[in-house]
Amino acid sequence: MSDRRLTLGILVSGRGSNLAAIVAAIASGALPATVGVVLSSKKEAQALQKTGGAPAYFVDPAGYADRAEYDGALVNLLKAHGVDLVVLAGYMRWVTPTLIEPYRHRIINIHPSLLPAFPGLRAQRQALEHGAKITGCTVHFVDEKLDHGPIIAQTATPILEGDTEATLSERILHEEHKLLLSAMGHIAAGRLQINGRIVSIGGMS
Ligand code: GRF
Repeated sequence: MSDRRLTLGILVSGRGSNLAAIVAAIASGALPATVGVVLSSKKEAQALQKTGGAPAYFVDPAGYADRAEYDGALVNLLKAHGVDLVVLAGYMRWVTPTLIEPYRHRIINIHPSLLPAFPGLRAQRQALEHGAKITGCTVHFVDEKLDHGPIIAQTATPILEGDTEATLSERILHEEHKLLLSAMGHIAAGRLQINGRIVSIGGMS
């Protein structure tokens, strides 16, 4: 994937701040990529307004018999738009092997905790309720298990006295945008090596 612009397929379900950060980084020349297509699982997702002019589709889960059939429709759209890196940016659905296999090691997710701690929904609240003192965010390759695949990069965020789910989420989100763009920059430059679960960036793991 080195020495050429990545064509991104971005999967969203909600607010779209990570998508907006990607679009801004491309516009400023900081990320050598093109948004090929944005696919949303939610019709009302604000993210659909933040695509920077890229083609965007709401793909209605109600129109498909099961998750695999839905993911098959996504793969068809991703391929039709020449996507070579899929980014789950606030995408709130389980993904199946139908989507993972054709994009193995070319599908990444951003998660608001230091995995493997606090996978799943409301990771920031999980960290607060657990009494953790440090949490953060993780960019990882997607595999068949939830929030589980090989870790590309992480940023730690301290939990402060008096933090609420909202204040902590806001601080982590700021770091998410930077981490996601940094990881994507490494991928675009062809700098990642993957050996089982271990991802090395330019020789450093
Ligand atoms: C982020 O916290 C991301 O880590 C999680 O969902 C949230 C999406 O935010 N997976 P946005 O839609 O990118 O603003």
